[in-house]
Amino acid sequence: MDPLQRPRGTRDFSPEENDRRRWALARLEETVARFGYREVATPTFEDLELFTRKSGEGVRKQLYEFTDKGGRALTLRPELTAPTMRYYFSELAQRPKPLKLYYFGNCFRYEEPQSGRYREFFQFGVELLGADTPEANAEVVAVAVACLKALGLSGFKLRVGHIGILKGVIGRLIPDVSARTAVYGTIDKKMAGLATTLSTAGVRNQTAIFLEAFAGTTFAAVLQADNWKVRLQDDINGLVKALESDYGDAAMPAIDDVQRAYADLRKMIGSLKPYGLDEFEIDYGVVRGLDYYSGMVFEVHHPELGAESQICGGGAYTLHELFGAKPTGSIGFAIGFDRTLLALEREGHMPALAPSPLKAVVVPVTDDAREEAVRLATQLRRAGVACDVDLMQRNLRKCLDYANALGIPFAVLLGAKEMASGQATVKDLRSGLQETLERAMVAARILAG
Ligand code: HAM
Repeated sequence: MDPLQRPRGTRDFSPEENDRRRWALARLEETVARFGYREVATPTFEDLELFTRKSGEGVRKQLYEFTDKGGRALTLRPELTAPTMRYYFSELAQRPKPLKLYYFGNCFRYEEPQSGRYREFFQFGVELLGADTPEANAEVVAVAVACLKALGLSGFKLRVGHIGILKGVIGRLIPDVSARTAVYGTIDKKMAGLATTLSTAGVRNQTAIFLEAFAGTTFAAVLQADNWKVRLQDDINGLVKALESDYGDAAMPAIDDVQRAYADLRKMIGSLKPYGLDEFEIDYGVVRGLDYYSGMVFEVHHPELGAESQICGGGAYTLHELFGAKPTGSIGFAIGFDRTLLALEREGHMPALAPSPLKAVVVPVTDDAREEAVRLATQLRRAGVACDVDLMQRNLRKCLDYANALGIPFAVLLGAKEMASGQATVKDLRSGLQETLERAMVAARILAG
């Protein structure tokens, strides 16, 4: 590898890109703050085991792991849920509940880079801790949607499901972990041939056929019309029937799991109604790539992004076992910050931001005005005006070219006349109009626009 090349799958961000990223981050932060979330920050690298014990094969294969000089097995973080939970259980667990935390940070996954898929990427996410009610689940989904809407994004699709339905069945019918992982992979990627994969793993005929159709089922839920209740009930009944006919009484534990998950999902969807969120899909096939999910799960996709269309994912999960702690309600999501900005650009909804934050450039027209120009610039900055002062001993023409190239709206000129009168000339570079003012009035003139 050429040491002077940027590592594969990473990016540099220009000042303009950073302006856009800061703008978007501010919108997300404002949104979650209105729901009571406060920011936490955790280290960029963690103990390897934090992720290998519970996050599952998918993430494990992608870890940027390394051994430090003290022989410790560490990894760059692939996500921020496990670190946040580590922090919670070690220091925050005594705080009043529900505890609402949010984070923004870089994550690292050793994946094949392509459009929207990077080795270093950024997540903005929230974790709601200490509550596991249907209302808490519904609120987390509503927060995710509110975040995306706050950015001005509109063409995204929300899919809600429950991990307990498919995992309840598959977990009971397929004891072998690697066979199970293959099945979840097929479901997650919505690949064809699920019935065959299930049969190979030992699942009986009718159940395998039913599960293939079931895992591929998505339907639009119109909350106000309550249509989803009938559909959900019918689909669950079909699954229970297939299990009964293939397995008889032996299917009871799986059926119990399915019924419990179904009741949970039904209540959670009902709780979404007052959030005015009536356009989403119910999708039984949302199984998520990480292994810690235990209840409601959801994903947001943006059709304009092609293969890497998922801009947000989350759900209810358990990680307390890792820390030897008591079960605690935990629900969260992470927005893929980079992909979301890509989606915003594709929609044409990225706002046009000012090309430069500078409002003025102070130009000493004569050499003996240089010191005074710096003094005036200092005065303007104290008054809140972002300004530049010529640092290159350029003539007036070149200074104005510089201001125009950066889109700076005002030039403040100090020539022989202004030096003699103690005034300054403010030139509006957009209109070409200029006026000579007392120096103390210059800041107010520029701030007025
Ligand atoms: P995740 O689905 O693995 O979930 O990642 C969340 C989001 O990060 C994805 O929807 C995607 O937009 C973005 N993302 C993932 N990998 C990449 C990549 N290589 N390049 C660009 N963007 C990527 C989690 O990480 C969970 N911790 C979410 C969560 C929070 N669940 C509960 N709380």
